[in-house]
Amino acid sequence: MSRTIIVSNRLPTKVLRSEESLTFQPSEGGLATGLGSIYRADGNVWVGWPGLFVHDFEEEQYVTEQLQADSMAPVFLTEAEIRDFYEGFSNSTLWPTFHYFAQFATYEQSHWESYVAVNEKFCEAVLAQAGPEDTIWVHDYQLLLLPEMLRKVRPEATIGFFLHIPFPSYELIRVLPWRAELLRGMLGADLIGFHTFGYMRHFLSSVSQVLGLSAANGQIEVENRAVRVDAFPMGIDYNRYAEAAASDTAQQHEATYREALRDTRVILSIDRLDYTKGIAQRLRAFELLLQRYPEWREQVSLIMLVVPSRDQVAQYADLKVEIDELVGRINASYRTIAWNPIHYFYRSLPLEELASLYRLAEVALVTPMRDGMNLVAKEFIASKADQRGVLILSERAGAARELSDALIINPTDINQLAEAMHEALVMPEEDQVQRMAAMQVLVKRYNVFSWTKLFLNQLAYTKMKQQTLA
Ligand code: UDP
Ligand code: G6P
Repeated sequence: MSRTIIVSNRLPTKVLRSEESLTFQPSEGGLATGLGSIYRADGNVWVGWPGLFVHDFEEEQYVTEQLQADSMAPVFLTEAEIRDFYEGFSNSTLWPTFHYFAQFATYEQSHWESYVAVNEKFCEAVLAQAGPEDTIWVHDYQLLLLPEMLRKVRPEATIGFFLHIPFPSYELIRVLPWRAELLRGMLGADLIGFHTFGYMRHFLSSVSQVLGLSAANGQIEVENRAVRVDAFPMGIDYNRYAEAAASDTAQQHEATYREALRDTRVILSIDRLDYTKGIAQRLRAFELLLQRYPEWREQVSLIMLVVPSRDQVAQYADLKVEIDELVGRINASYRTIAWNPIHYFYRSLPLEELASLYRLAEVALVTPMRDGMNLVAKEFIASKADQRGVLILSERAGAARELSDALIINPTDINQLAEAMHEALVMPEEDQVQRMAAMQVLVKRYNVFSWTKLFLNQLAYTKMKQQTLA
């Protein structure tokens, strides 16, 4: 039977070291939460890094066995690889460049060399798992070279690649010293998927300008092999979020929060700590709302959950300091004995608690500067059984292409953002319901299961066409 081997840098389970014991927890981030619902089916395997630096062989064996029992095959990274491949090339070169933060990008030859070596390490790990009939599905920017590496060893393999972050304009790609190698790496796949047509167009333009390869009807000829390129906007496991929000646990949590907050209305913000998410701008916009509309003081609070992420990278550490200072300053200026403007949490929460926050909030603020898709926006929608609530969404999140019934804003325009918050807070209920209902239909239909099916069917079809033409 043919299986699907999913490959991504991070596994959907992360292993944490606390004192002398190891604990296993769900990973954060859209890739892990999104695909977490599908990988266990049909004997599939997920190959990736468990997020832990192991001390010795015994520990490695133990983690491998535990993960194997749950359909995962760990790839262990050394401390040097975590520094140069993960924090270095992946998150200090590619991440900022692909999110239009080129000013944060570094270009270190040693980081590049580690990136090549770790992609090779993943290649070996995948080949150890995948039989000749299996489909290999590679995910995200940490593994751009992997499709080509796999192709060299297994020319006939069925390989898909999906990019979970934006693909930027050629003007950003051209700056990368290793642009040709990275694009050739991706072209080792049979099917390359992006969240939006915009990202796909940027990719085709880069391939044409850097490699001189042109595309016709979403297809590129690479050494007599037709590579297909297409847009597949990723969805969520809708029922999982709807059910979590309806669960007794989520309702109990909500009741506890509600009691503490009394009548205060809630605006919600949930992200990983990341400069792409527009967190500081959002805080400034909330302050502007309180200045411009004093009637909201003591009436509205912002609940802001920031999930720790990549805090060894300088820009992330700086952002943490900036957020701490902004929250401290705004709370100190506006708070009263009975009211706290911003409830700020720096941690991750289990699903039922996230669900209770989605229930509690009347307004969700999803205002990234750039975001491949943004699944938090879709999770908020899935959680709103009574169809009340307003989503404020950045025009530069991939999700904005689908969710046109949200209040769409430019996240750098904090005037517009403050006005959108006011508009959301005074929006008539029937308006809210109309918008929410329309978005629910969409998010429910284009869920993560239909997304997976569409991608894998398209991949199988592409392969079949290649073979009949050969
Ligand atoms: N999330 C989580 N734990 C938390 C907060 C958030 O697992 O405490 C999840 C959230 O539910 C969502 C994901 O992290 O599924 C974030 O995905 P998104 O696409 O919004 O952004 P990314 O982190 O991938 O950039
Ligand atoms: C985004 C990326 C994922 C990544 C996640 C969490 O969703 O697209 O590839 O896994 O962020 O980031 P981390 O660096 O902790 O894996």
